[in-house]
Amino acid sequence: MKNNPLFNKNIISIKDLSKDELELILHTAECIKNAKSPVDFLKGKVLSSLFFEPSTRTRLSFETAMYRLFGNVIGFADSKNTSFSKGESLSDSIKVISSYSDVIVLRHPSEGSAKLASEVAHVPVINAGDGANEHPTQTLLDLFTIKECQGKIDDLKIAFVGDLKNGRTVHSLAKAAAHYNIRMYFVAPESLMLPDSICHMLKKNGVKYSFHKSVDEVLPKLDILYMTRVQKERFDNEKDYENTKKACCINKASLKEAKDNLKIMHPLPRVYEIDPDVDETKHAYYFEQSANGVFVRKALLALLLKKDLFEEEIFQETLNTKELLTTMENHL
Ligand code: CP
Repeated sequence: MKNNPLFNKNIISIKDLSKDELELILHTAECIKNAKSPVDFLKGKVLSSLFFEPSTRTRLSFETAMYRLFGNVIGFADSKNTSFSKGESLSDSIKVISSYSDVIVLRHPSEGSAKLASEVAHVPVINAGDGANEHPTQTLLDLFTIKECQGKIDDLKIAFVGDLKNGRTVHSLAKAAAHYNIRMYFVAPESLMLPDSICHMLKKNGVKYSFHKSVDEVLPKLDILYMTRVQKERFDNEKDYENTKKACCINKASLKEAKDNLKIMHPLPRVYEIDPDVDETKHAYYFEQSANGVFVRKALLALLLKKDLFEEEIFQETLNTKELLTTMENHL
């Protein structure tokens, strides 16, 4: 079997991954999800889990993924107990921490922090969210989930709803989705609409998109309704948050016009935007989505840290692995 092309790569922006690489990650996650017995691909490896901002899913699913691949985890969920509180720079800290571990997962409030870390680290750095900028591993699990619940990614109609200005998951997913044939609808109040830079990128890539003020305008057409939280922590002014926090909300009654196959996704946490009565509908898929985080992050860690990953038995059983690797080689 051919070598693993993602070995030792940094994952900073979703734009750093080609469509072939995205497909390889999704395929690897599927093989890992379908594996009949536990796999110990990362025995003896150490992950540094550095979270300068709150997280439930990203941190715990990365750590679970590492443990379930028989690796180990060091790190912190609150930087107040580290030497950052004494004034140490991010750059010095990353230099030191990269000599203690084989991979670094970093969440930080500053845009560009993960890129800076990757420039000084001796090991791969994974961006687990840098301010309002990007959240590329959320995108990987979002694409995996879309494929899982709709059987495909191409030829779908997806609405992105909520805080599209500050929502880094939307920024990364819209960039990745530009590789596929997807019709996009952006639903938000004007003050929370998608940044121009992303709209320009979509236009350049020939993506069809439109802007809307309410979910009702587009609901009957949709295959995926991607809801997001209004990001309180990114507002300078409490009043602006209060005015927009309930701008785009759905409940069970509001879904009457939805297609049978509509699935609702949300990176979570949710606050106001999805009423809990939606959870009991056939459309709710956000808890399956967050569960997929473990499989996708297992795949990503294995790809970054194990050069001969595709020699492993679970990949020998699928024809797809060989085909994907050959396609990638031909595209180089
Ligand atoms: N989706 C997501 O990033 O969730 P957390 O903030 O809980 O990690």
